[in-house]
Amino acid sequence: MYVLGIETSCDETAVAIFHSSKGLVHHLLYSQIDMHSEYGGVVPELASRDHIRKLIPLVKQVVQESGLVNADLGGIAYTAGPGLMGALLVGAATARSMAWALQIPAVAVHHMEGHLLVPMLEDNPPQFPFLALLISGGHTLLVHVSAIGQYELLGESLDDAVGEAFDKTAKLLGLGYPGGPKLAALAERGTEKIRFPRPMTDRPGLDFSFSGLKTFAMNTINAAPKTEQDKADIAASFQAAIADTLSIKCRRALKQTGLNRLVVAGGVSANTHIRTALTTMAAGENTEIYFPRAQFCTDNGAMIAYAGCQRLMAGQHEGLSITVRPRWPMMELSLAC
Ligand code: KG4
Ligand code: ZN
Repeated sequence: MYVLGIETSCDETAVAIFHSSKGLVHHLLYSQIDMHSEYGGVVPELASRDHIRKLIPLVKQVVQESGLVNADLGGIAYTAGPGLMGALLVGAATARSMAWALQIPAVAVHHMEGHLLVPMLEDNPPQFPFLALLISGGHTLLVHVSAIGQYELLGESLDDAVGEAFDKTAKLLGLGYPGGPKLAALAERGTEKIRFPRPMTDRPGLDFSFSGLKTFAMNTINAAPKTEQDKADIAASFQAAIADTLSIKCRRALKQTGLNRLVVAGGVSANTHIRTALTTMAAGENTEIYFPRAQFCTDNGAMIAYAGCQRLMAGQHEGLSITVRPRWPMMELSLAC
């Protein structure tokens, strides 16, 4: 079965086709970054309007470049949340209308489940059960994953998500949007000279808190005028604190659960310093670690096509009403086979 996947939850219009036995067929992405960078962040209304402009041409292109026609599709998956309401509605309405016209099932996919499952597209996919660390712009989640749809929340951020902390700190350093990759690039030229706190690591539990790091960065920046080298050192110190905190919490979760596989996904999993720190930690815990390829760390259509295909094959599909959920806890998911 060929499944078309549509992702429009934020600032990327992304489309892919996944085949239940052949695997990933094709994927394309149009990023709105240039449009939003002028404003220093995502402008929701502009995002929705741009998805309207770009989505249908992108769907046509993916189908055509895959050597397929619409009638070859067996199902359509779309991100139904969490995300920006208007942006989600563009993907949902397009997917559902297409499915209706083609008389094929459509399935609503949870954006974070997409991130969680996308390492399954790699050559050496993880076996269940595993521990998942999901680090994106909106979420920081530690999850015990027993199977698709069987998720137990072990820990989450009580305030800013990791990606959000990167973006806000980048802004304080005068870097543009999106700040995460820019801060990471600046950090390459710096060293860890300032000791940032490792929040919530000195007490038991698996929750996170990252908003204090941004405040610490702000106070450091404001204390005295800063050279470019000072800024690079702040970036490196901030990044080291995040990498360390994530490693400490993941080690704790591995010990607590007895799991020996760790999946790391979401936009921030593209960060090479964090990847290295987590890989070193995992090696010390005799744990296999799995990451998506770099282009599938951030938002993409492949993750939605893959997750949707699994759900369609389990018999799940939507009724007639078109709904999206800007807020949608992943722990509410299940999968009836
Ligand atoms: O998963 P994603 O594309 O979107 C959400 O679901 O939120 O994640 C985007 C987040 C942004 O906060 C972005 O700054 C961050 O991931 N990010 C990074 C890197 N690449 C993307 N943060 C740190 N280092 C990176 N290399
Ligand atoms: Zn995402």
